[in-house]
Amino acid sequence: MLVVRSKQELNEHLAEWRQHGDHIALVPTMGNLHAGHMSLVDLASEHAERIVVSVFVNPTQFSNGEDFDQYPRTLERDTRRLKNLPADLVFAPDVETMYPFGLQDATTVSVPRLTEHFCGASRPGHFDGVTSVVARLFALTQPDTAVFGQKDYQQQLVIRHMCQDLNLPIAIITGETVREADGLAMSSRNQYLSDEERGKAPLLFEVLSGVGSELQNGCRNFEELESESIATLRDAGFDVDYFSIRRAQNLEIPDRDCDELVVLAAANLGGARLIDNTVVTI
Ligand code: PAJ
Repeated sequence: MLVVRSKQELNEHLAEWRQHGDHIALVPTMGNLHAGHMSLVDLASEHAERIVVSVFVNPTQFSNGEDFDQYPRTLERDTRRLKNLPADLVFAPDVETMYPFGLQDATTVSVPRLTEHFCGASRPGHFDGVTSVVARLFALTQPDTAVFGQKDYQQQLVIRHMCQDLNLPIAIITGETVREADGLAMSSRNQYLSDEERGKAPLLFEVLSGVGSELQNGCRNFEELESESIATLRDAGFDVDYFSIRRAQNLEIPDRDCDELVVLAAANLGGARLIDNTVVTI
């Protein structure tokens, strides 16, 4: 597997693959790879002959005071783990390569509305950072397919919106959330949890799943389900940012006969921000 840091080197490999008629899939990551990321690489291999995994801790999607400096950077271990998978190339650029005009003069790609709520409301500028870096990765790689995780539900909707709106000819695939044995969604941020917090953390998915079952069984008291869930999580020590039942397609408020819902939640537990969701198709 190749590890490349420059655009020139990336281009050489991409050109060679395209000459052979190979399709290219991109799996964007910030590294510190776990089984969730790995599952996206496996999924990508069902859609393309060549797979590029990008590893870049993107400064523009972190606000001041967030964990940009603290975010684990483990490129050597990440590359070792990818060797057992169908990944062809790891693209690990530095900040200057990704933002050649510097962060102050960088072009921003911004999706309105869909980014105003949920993670966008509590992390101002976060999604502008995500769409801006993903647009850059798309321009550099020009993939046929790109794979994102359902774990970051709002993120994959925002990327889909960007691609449709800008007519980017890239098929967006969403991979299922990979979980620990006790249900906790895998995340690089889980390592910020103390042992005691780690013991509590699976409650988030337990509550989400409980609401999912209630919805499946026909319950439509959305507000009551939301407020009960928030209370349960607060009682257990979670600082709940949002817990919300929405239309899966666009995160708008659903009416009673909406047949595809998503239950989305984010909560801080100690120093870790946990986000998770469950999709309910009726
Ligand atoms: P990162 O948090 O590293 O996640 C990279 C990809 O892995 C995202 O598409 C995310 O949804 C997916 N992922 C994370 N945890 C997962 C899990 N438990 N199961 C399945 N997939 C999971 O998301 C980002 O990086 C960045 O915002 C990025 C898109 C790379 C832009 O910088």
